[in-house]
Amino acid sequence: MAAIVLIGAQWGDEGKGKATDLLGGQINWVVRYQGGNNAGHTVVLPSGETFALHLIPSGILTPGVQNVIGNGVVVDPGVLLTELGGLEDRDVDTSGLLISADAHLLMPYHVAIDKVTERFLGNKKIGTTGRGIGPCYQDKIARVGVRVADVLDEKILAQKVEAALELKNQILVKIYNRKALDPAQVVDEVLGQAEGFKHRIADTRLLLNQALERNETVLLEGSQGTLLDVDHGTYPYVTSSNPTAGGAAVGAGIGPNKITTVLGILKAYTTRVGSGPFPTELFDEHGAYLAKTGGEVGVTTGRARRCGWFDAVIARYATRVNGITDYFLTKLDVLSSLDTVPICVAYEVDGERVEDMPMTQTGFHHAKPIYEEMPGWWEDISQCKTFEDLPQNAQNYILRLEELSGAHVSCIGVGPGRDQTIVRRAIV
Ligand code: IMP
Repeated sequence: MAAIVLIGAQWGDEGKGKATDLLGGQINWVVRYQGGNNAGHTVVLPSGETFALHLIPSGILTPGVQNVIGNGVVVDPGVLLTELGGLEDRDVDTSGLLISADAHLLMPYHVAIDKVTERFLGNKKIGTTGRGIGPCYQDKIARVGVRVADVLDEKILAQKVEAALELKNQILVKIYNRKALDPAQVVDEVLGQAEGFKHRIADTRLLLNQALERNETVLLEGSQGTLLDVDHGTYPYVTSSNPTAGGAAVGAGIGPNKITTVLGILKAYTTRVGSGPFPTELFDEHGAYLAKTGGEVGVTTGRARRCGWFDAVIARYATRVNGITDYFLTKLDVLSSLDTVPICVAYEVDGERVEDMPMTQTGFHHAKPIYEEMPGWWEDISQCKTFEDLPQNAQNYILRLEELSGAHVSCIGVGPGRDQTIVRRAIV
């Protein structure tokens, strides 16, 4: 039995889709356990075909894999249908996708409220993706959410939407000066959409536990990343769910003792989208180089990502809060052709050297990176197949990251393609 959690070690966009896709052949189930269509995975197949996925697990591109949208996810039904349609148009078999009956439905009013709230916050905004994620999770916690299984009972669905809109319409109209939404219209729209996904609704926690009992291999695919976790991230500049490894058990409905491996995805440098502190952020030509060479543009929003050097304080923190056993280091090729490659090994916070994440938000806002300079490499590494094929300085860079982050670097991405990965130690 193996249940592998795949988690972004930084602020998301580390290249998780590539890792899922690499493991695809050895995996029976791929499960999304949190977030919604705020996520964006880009997968490049050997044929060169590129797929951008937002809501559907990236295992959908590997024939024979069962894919699950778990109970911890928030599902925008319109986006789900568009994404399914897009895959089917390109002849991808989507029959293996199941949706947890307990996942929450992201409704049009969640999107409306996300947008008006961000506008209202002005320069204090979170920089959300504007997809309604926060408002949907707010409703879940406030116990006024609509769940996927509610589409199977029209009366209950109507009651829930009406109850939710009673307050939401007051907020939209009286505070934000927007139009009220008509509950009947919302219900009709959702029921219409449900015709396209009803047959996929399942008790996925039961199915996943049964699969584990049959010794099948389950990959639990996190979205976003450790520092966007609502508990362990750079609050309040975070998403509204728990991407960290513990969230995988809750968001899929399996016991934490079933998790056998936690694979952290770590970009060879750091990026962040949206607002919030970012100690190693670069505002010079190096930042522009990383953005351009790394193609650092959000898959979901098209926003330019902020770029900076590798931050080992964050990696150490991610290793701890997730219990990471192995790292998949992505985009190492982006760093080729630099004279030196700086690594942030610690912070200076108010005149003191700090090795670990500062305890307070203020401390993190004040953190200044302390760098160690590693000699760079100029060789093209995109065709390297083994660790030993890499230039010595690239090997040294990885070994230093490993030492600083406290977990083994088991896979190394040397290009965007499926076959451009060095496997140093097998994950499954
Ligand atoms: P939300 O998840 O749309 O509420 O946005 C909250 C924060 O998380 C913002 O800073 C977003 O930019 C960030 N965020 C959400 N999803 C992703 C992602 O997939 N990659 C990177 N950042 C994300």
